[in-house]
Amino acid sequence: MRSHYCGELRATHVGETVALTGWVHRRRDHGGVIFLDIRDRTGIVQVVYDPDAKDSFVTADRVRNEYVLRMLGRVRRRQEGAENPNMATGEIEVLGSELEVLNRAQTPPFRLDEYSDAGEDVRLRHRYLDLRRPEMQQHLRIRARAAAIVRRYLEEQGFWEVETPTLSRSTPEGARDYLVPSRTHPGHFFALPQSPQIYKQLLMMSGLDRYYQLARCYRDEDLRHDRQPEFTQIDIEASFVDEQDIMDVTEGMIKRLFQALRGIELADFPVLTWEEAMRRYGSDKPDLRNPLQLVDMADLMAAVPFKVFSGPANDLQGRVVALKAPGGGQLTRRAIDALTAFVGRYGAKGLAYIKVNDLAQGMDGLQSPILKFLPEAVVQGTLSRVAAKDGDLVFFGAGKAAVVNLSMGALRDELGRVLGLVEEGFAPLWVVDWPLFETAANGAPTPMHHPFTRPKCSPKALLAAPLEAKACAYDLVLNGNELGGGSLRNHSEDMQKAVFAAMNIANEGAVKFGFLLDALRYGCPPHGGIALGFDRLVMLLVGAGAIRDVIAFPKTQSAACLMMAAPSEVDEQQLRELRLRTRPQSAG
Ligand code: AMO
Ligand code: AMP
Repeated sequence: MRSHYCGELRATHVGETVALTGWVHRRRDHGGVIFLDIRDRTGIVQVVYDPDAKDSFVTADRVRNEYVLRMLGRVRRRQEGAENPNMATGEIEVLGSELEVLNRAQTPPFRLDEYSDAGEDVRLRHRYLDLRRPEMQQHLRIRARAAAIVRRYLEEQGFWEVETPTLSRSTPEGARDYLVPSRTHPGHFFALPQSPQIYKQLLMMSGLDRYYQLARCYRDEDLRHDRQPEFTQIDIEASFVDEQDIMDVTEGMIKRLFQALRGIELADFPVLTWEEAMRRYGSDKPDLRNPLQLVDMADLMAAVPFKVFSGPANDLQGRVVALKAPGGGQLTRRAIDALTAFVGRYGAKGLAYIKVNDLAQGMDGLQSPILKFLPEAVVQGTLSRVAAKDGDLVFFGAGKAAVVNLSMGALRDELGRVLGLVEEGFAPLWVVDWPLFETAANGAPTPMHHPFTRPKCSPKALLAAPLEAKACAYDLVLNGNELGGGSLRNHSEDMQKAVFAAMNIANEGAVKFGFLLDALRYGCPPHGGIALGFDRLVMLLVGAGAIRDVIAFPKTQSAACLMMAAPSEVDEQQLRELRLRTRPQSAG
């Protein structure tokens, strides 16, 4: 039906007769001449109809936004002064001769030809229209190219793509499962995989050696801007590898993606231990574009009369830190109160600060509600440790280490934003040497990653002090986002059993993962891998604010599809076949 795509036409086509198809992006009537901006997935071109075009002119006069057209015309240079440098096709236009309306369109519920603040709900209900916007098309184009680059790269590196089932059993990644009832086994349910974790390990036991998959994963968890209930992982596993091998393959892939899609050469990724990340940034996924760092002060505060500081300074589980905001002296009392409320949301009991007006005046040059509680030598020691200058503001957090890390880590992000300190660009890093476990609400050791992660110690040492064990695990972080995580796995049955035992689930683990323990008995190679959030990666590559902007048909905040109205009720017959009955909501 067409000879060219709209967005392809350039000055080199001048004089050619072309057949175009596309949507009316905008229609303008300029004193007897009609201008149609015609859009397809490659871009927009201007087609002009003047009264000489007779019938076509009449048709052009009748078309409205989003009508679908086919037209013939001749490419010509635009008149001097009428070029549009903001359009790829801006040097030329097409003088239309014929025009056929392939389909009419109602007025769309929101405008596609200019910025519109139509609500998210309206857009998602009409996602097929929202996706017509050039910006969304660009996102999907880059997503497709990224997937192709990933496949080519991993294939070059000797990885084979293998599809694993999505009707499966629960795979523990820390979220709730989506369940699918079985008709043939009444009362039994499949779980949609939270990740292909166990399958990919089994593939290593099958001798596949190097596996990858662009895998769809399902997690029923609270949604945020970087989470969807179904999402895609670049899932990787390899045999006879160490941590560095997996990190190298992954880093090479990310570098290639940024090179090919953004023209950016990323330098080698820095490696931070988990402890160091927590110490310097209060976070296991720090944004390294932000230069601010937490500085430990416990040694200076151990003997001060101010209990808020000396208490945590003398508590093994406590922490006292300073965070210097360069130029923060300009923050008003109100802004500081707002920041105090901000850290309060992360559990902090307060936010002490010292405003540095004039260092030359000693204590008189400082302003702070806590000066009266601190000896001068401590104040001076504190200010020199953070290298405070006139005009700076130094904040303090004290309390349980977990609360201080969370609240002051968040304050670090917030100050970076408010004070405009976050640099442009991309700052990836590896976080390694993770603790194997954290303590769950019920006191039991819970894996920081998943229970198949290999500890760095022996099974005996693990059982003696589970919370001390470090894991052969590594996370990839980019601009404060957790882009991916992986580990070496337990390839010996003893070690896998020891991990279950340390979690207090020796019996449950043996029943639930009996097939895995069985498989470990038949010659399992040492293996490890990683999974990257593909949606998050594309979001960062295109600079979108949320992963739903790079997913063709995303779910809403409440995990629903507004367009299809899913999830939906099903008819009684279907429920009967599945031997299911729904409970009224009030019954809980
Ligand atoms: P993990 O649970 O860390 O590891 O997941 C890997 C990466 O997947 C992305 N991700 C998500 N993206 C969008 N929406 C979500 N709800 C969501 N949840 C996770 C994140 C995350 O870093 N099997 C292990 C990997 C391994 O050990 O090899 C796993 O799934 O970017
Ligand atoms: P208070 O003695 O509780 O009035 O606190 C004096 C100052 O210390 C105030 O500026 C509080 O915001 C601050 N403060 C109180 N608790 C903490 C804490 N846990 N960490 C940091 N600052 C705190």
